[in-house]
Amino acid sequence: MDTTTLTLNNGVECPAVGIGTFMLSPADAENSVREALKMGYRLVDTAAAYQNERACGRGLRASGVPRRDVFLSTKLWPSDYANPCAVDETLERLGTDYVDLLFLHQPAGDWLAGYRQLEKALRDGKARSIGISNFEGRYMEELERQWEVVPQFVQVEAHPYFPQHELRRTLDRLGIRLMSWYPLGHGDRALLAEPVVADIARRLGRTPAQVILRWHVQTGFAVIPGSRNVDHIRDNLAVLDFSLTDADMAAIATLDKGVRYYNRTDAQLVQFAAWQPTYEKA
Ligand SMILES: NC(=O)c1ccc[n+]([C@@H]2O[C@H](COP(=O)([O-])OP(=O)(O)OC[C@H]3O[C@@H](n4cnc5c(N)ncnc54)[C@H](OP(=O)(O)O)[C@@H]3O)[C@@H](O)[C@H]2O)c1
Repeated sequence: MDTTTLTLNNGVECPAVGIGTFMLSPADAENSVREALKMGYRLVDTAAAYQNERACGRGLRASGVPRRDVFLSTKLWPSDYANPCAVDETLERLGTDYVDLLFLHQPAGDWLAGYRQLEKALRDGKARSIGISNFEGRYMEELERQWEVVPQFVQVEAHPYFPQHELRRTLDRLGIRLMSWYPLGHGDRALLAEPVVADIARRLGRTPAQVILRWHVQTGFAVIPGSRNVDHIRDNLAVLDFSLTDADMAAIATLDKGVRYYNRTDAQLVQFAAWQPTYEKA
């Protein structure tokens, strides 16, 4: 199996491994994106809500990697879903005239208006693919009744403790790819120290993080580990040159607890719709 890129349902190719930038300050995001691209990453994930899109754009340009060689992913925040300029303002912050993937970040506020903006961005060539983040269950069902274009990606929490079995059945039916957030459990030491993972890592001469990221890739997920540490960033890309056996995959499957780190409430969705990110000045 070729695990270096995923082919999306509209024929676009997306690298399987990228750099995530959640909770990175502008300075850290710029540094991580620049260094990651210089060492061979070709997928960058940011969001309006991370308040570091300008910095990611600076990191991309400073890397020297041509824009067309980078798969750039970002997300509209709910307070912008009904703003008809939201996509253009996103492109301006990133310093680009298109993104490779544009998500709705949360199923909050007027998310149908937001989805219509994604569909328009796709038609206008301002997004090469579109996605929804944190849409599961009833939100997926409601959107499925209303979308004109099937999205290419869903970005949700996924890791060995919560491998998203139920959602994956829906995504497989619809031909939608999953991109994992919190792929390393947001750095949870307990996940990285799981004996099952540690044993495989020892046998293969890899780190526990690499074994977990390889599990994501072999499961068919795109994965975007976040890091401000250049050694971790380098390690996290080096997961495409080894394989886990079926027995390894089965052993990791036993870690499934059906438990998430992050449980969003309906009250939070209301707060999300009201919150406005504060952006770096141009
Ligand atoms: N759509 C959403 O709602 C949503 C939500 C959360 C995240 N995301 C996206 O998903 C990405 C990944 O999530 P995340 O960054 O929160 O969590 P994560 O990738 O699971 O974990 C990041 C943490 O793991 C540590 N780490 C990274 N590589 C490591 C390695 N090789 N060995 C040991 N520790 C390592 C990092 O610390 P160091 O800095 O020290 O390496 C950081 O503390 C985000 O950056 C963001 O792009 C999306």
